[in-house]
Amino acid sequence: MTIVGVTDDHPRPESPSIWGDWGDMDPAAKDIGLERWIIEVTDGGQTDVVGDLSAHAVWYGPTTTSRAINIGISLVEEFRGRRIGGIAQRLLAELLHDRGIVRVEASTDVDNLAEQRALERAGFLYEGTLKLAQGRRDGLHDLQVWAHVRVPQE
Ligand SMILES: CC(C)(COP(=O)(O)OP(=O)(O)OC[C@H]1O[C@@H](n2cnc3c(N)ncnc32)[C@H](O)[C@@H]1OP(=O)(O)O)[C@@H](O)C(=O)NCCC(=O)NCCS
Repeated sequence: MTIVGVTDDHPRPESPSIWGDWGDMDPAAKDIGLERWIIEVTDGGQTDVVGDLSAHAVWYGPTTTSRAINIGISLVEEFRGRRIGGIAQRLLAELLHDRGIVRVEASTDVDNLAEQRALERAGFLYEGTLKLAQGRRDGLHDLQVWAHVRVPQE
């Protein structure tokens, strides 16, 4: 499996799910500086785009060391349930750590058990729950926050 960086205008693989059923989107949310990757799996000489990943900065203070990165993932439906999600998120966390990012975060709905298992398998640790943090078409939802941390070497 490989993850390949793509530009913002690269077409997204079709991967709808109840967790991404947003309803009306806020135009201001386009300005968060999203970075994107597609996930490719090669099997028997055939390469499939099986999903995509995204990442954006979250600042906890005005210093470089206060910059965490929050990642997201969505797999094409036929490729879900094959343990791809954990591997892809681990690959992205390691790529971001190699760039000097200490704290890689992922947030997911408290009811999204598949993503929680995938994050656990990717080496993320559950840190807590954000009340009513995400609004989707059907209303407000609590989100779990998970983190993958690489302690900086002296
Ligand atoms: C969430 C997602 C990335 C997980 O990746 P994946 O490769 O499908 O994950 P896995 O194959 O490792 O499966 C995860 C685990 O969840 C389990 N699982 C799947 N659906 C489940 C459900 N509805 N309830 C409970 N467990 C579920 C699987 O059985 C597996 O459990 P196991 O590790 O004990 O075998 C992928 O399913 C996906 O893209 N889903 C839709 C979009 C999404 O939810 N994105 C994340 C939004 S924050």
